[in-house]
Amino acid sequence: MSAFQTFAATVCAHPPRLAVVLGSGLGRVPHRFDEIASISFADVPGLVAPSVHGHSGRISLGLCAAHPLLVFRGRLHFYEGHTWERVASPIHVLAELGVKVVLLTNAAGGIHDQLNPGDLMVLKGDLFLQKPNGWKQPLRTACYSPQLVEQVQKNERERGRKLLAGVYAAVTGPCYETPAEIRGLRAMGVDAVGMSTAFEAETAASLGLEVVAISCITNKAAGLTAGTLNHAEVLANAHKPAERISEMIEALLPDL
Ligand code: HPA
Repeated sequence: MSAFQTFAATVCAHPPRLAVVLGSGLGRVPHRFDEIASISFADVPGLVAPSVHGHSGRISLGLCAAHPLLVFRGRLHFYEGHTWERVASPIHVLAELGVKVVLLTNAAGGIHDQLNPGDLMVLKGDLFLQKPNGWKQPLRTACYSPQLVEQVQKNERERGRKLLAGVYAAVTGPCYETPAEIRGLRAMGVDAVGMSTAFEAETAASLGLEVVAISCITNKAAGLTAGTLNHAEVLANAHKPAERISEMIEALLPDL
């Protein structure tokens, strides 16, 4: 048996309804998690190890609040030079492993005035600007489950916290935006900008999965504060809401 077949058999014995895909810097989420088994992306047919600092590139199966949970520690980005097929490959893997709901997380720059480093936003739609002419397409809301948006907002309200539901723009990167691009995105109704998630959400929805996505605001977008952006700042701020995301996952699991 290959390492993946052994892992898949263990997943079958503890079938998770939810998989979480962790973005930059969220490596240790969820905090209360008893790992049962894990495998490196490199040992999964169709996946390769991520090249981005802050992504360990492992899939863990474990128990969170007594529920089986699959956690993807890292993802494959278009800006790393991967094909779209490869970017979507973790989603195909989690669907094959029987998961029904996926929570995508990402690091993003805040454009909405209320989004500051350390804040979270749940996605109610996206602009997929990573493909030619993406900016001519309308806002995409169909990939994101409105029930799950409401559920995570309700769970947050019950903890006395406000969670903005906003629009995410997925851009190619790998460099951060110019201030002019951010003014343009703001005019298009975008609340947060990042370099992932949109195609994974589209793929998951096309496979019949329910999707919810959370942006971790690591910085104010370019031009909204003095100074320039860099990946070190993004990583330094990405771990700030890790406890809050852990609690959100725990709160969501019993309702799935
Ligand atoms: N822009 C794009 N991607 C990002 C940003 C940003 O400001 N912050 C974290 N990921």
